[in-house]
Amino acid sequence: MAAPTSRLETGKWSRESWRTKPIVQVPEYPDQGALTAVEKQLRSYPPLVFAGEARRLKAALAKVSEGKAFLLQGGDCAESFAEFHPDNIRDTFRVMLQMAVVLTFGGALPIVKVGRMAGQFAKPRSAPDETIGGVTLPSYRGDNINGMEFTAAARVPDPQRMVQAYNQSAATLNLLRAFAQGGYADLHKVHQWTLGFMADAATAEKYSRFADRIQETLEFMEACGLTGETVPQIRETEFYTSHEALLLPYEEALTRNDSTTGQWYGCSAHMLWLGERTRQPDHAHVEFMRGIQNPVGVKIGPKTTPDEVLALCDALNPQNEAGRLTLISRMGAERVTEHLPTLLRAITREGRKVVWVCDPMHANTVKSSTGYKTRRFDNILAEVRSFFAVHRAEGTHPGGVHFEMTGQDVTECVGGTQSVSEASLGDRYHTHCDPRLNASQALELAFLIAEALKDERVQHGKDARITAAQ
Ligand code: PEP
Ligand code: CO
Repeated sequence: MAAPTSRLETGKWSRESWRTKPIVQVPEYPDQGALTAVEKQLRSYPPLVFAGEARRLKAALAKVSEGKAFLLQGGDCAESFAEFHPDNIRDTFRVMLQMAVVLTFGGALPIVKVGRMAGQFAKPRSAPDETIGGVTLPSYRGDNINGMEFTAAARVPDPQRMVQAYNQSAATLNLLRAFAQGGYADLHKVHQWTLGFMADAATAEKYSRFADRIQETLEFMEACGLTGETVPQIRETEFYTSHEALLLPYEEALTRNDSTTGQWYGCSAHMLWLGERTRQPDHAHVEFMRGIQNPVGVKIGPKTTPDEVLALCDALNPQNEAGRLTLISRMGAERVTEHLPTLLRAITREGRKVVWVCDPMHANTVKSSTGYKTRRFDNILAEVRSFFAVHRAEGTHPGGVHFEMTGQDVTECVGGTQSVSEASLGDRYHTHCDPRLNASQALELAFLIAEALKDERVQHGKDARITAAQ
């Protein structure tokens, strides 16, 4: 199919062309000189990722768009300077590995693993200010912008925080690369990934039985001559990073020209996405994203119209390249069945190639009776289930899931078999922004999604047999 003609008037793109467009959700730095100095400093720093890696991820996402792979994207709502610790990185990586093997088994599909890690610091806010006890201060916008502490000094945007965020991202990415390629992710370790603190005995037991099956399969494969030496996929894995491209001065400073292709890549992460609040097609954030060649994502909320989605495809994927654009649906458990089909139909009708992913977190946030911002496990699961059901009805591919989760045993989302109650939310509520699934809840969800993937597979098999018989 020919590339669709663009509905948008677009001028010449450059790393800084976003600066001429209207922009929302940006901090106001009081000291412009200090900001410029930091931007200059960051421009001289090494890129965090290599363009070739972003291309590899794009190719993997192209497979996802065809239903030949499945995306697992997950990590903190907001990374923080205070929680920066190797154990936190390891535990989130580990639970994602566990989820990935469970999903691979269910779907008989490769799982593309993308962390909300090594750069997920900036946060869009629903209000520019926050009032506590009659005192009003600017909202906290993420550790790369200002401090969470409720004091006037902490809330002033400080450009030096970008340097700290860069350094933390570099160290995090370094450890992730070491884990992915240095032996930690070897499938033979599937038992050792069991988390020591797995509070939910039922999920731990289910995982252990599952790990036994993998172990047995590996022994069988070894007997056939397929070992970690002959098949590198057994001993190492690919793990990519992503974050919301919100803080454009930072993203611009890390945008580099790839010497092998002459094209521009955002080199702060492999994949970047735009949030629900910054995806206006004629605004600065879309302008920035349209010129970089990375795979990009856009959050799609319940009010999104088919025209808006098509305008985003025009702006961000004018060549209709598979794997370039991921649409991350975050409708809410009750609204997905009503709103998603019209969007899917518009995309299908116009032959747009996109990856459809379900973020069952962001439209299912509620306030608990004890005052905590929380999410109910049942609603999260319900949104994923409805997402799969809508895709099945429309004949499109449910491409993946996007979770806010941690490997830590936090009590931020209620429910799951471990049954975090509203009363216990305060026990270990550590998030710097939105409530995350803990390790047991995340793994439990993976088992449930694996069943959905298996059903999908069985259904496709049946459909294929019916078509063949006709
Ligand atoms: C997020 O992913 O943390 C976020 C703020 O999402 P959204 O833009 O979908 O609200
Ligand atoms: Co969030």
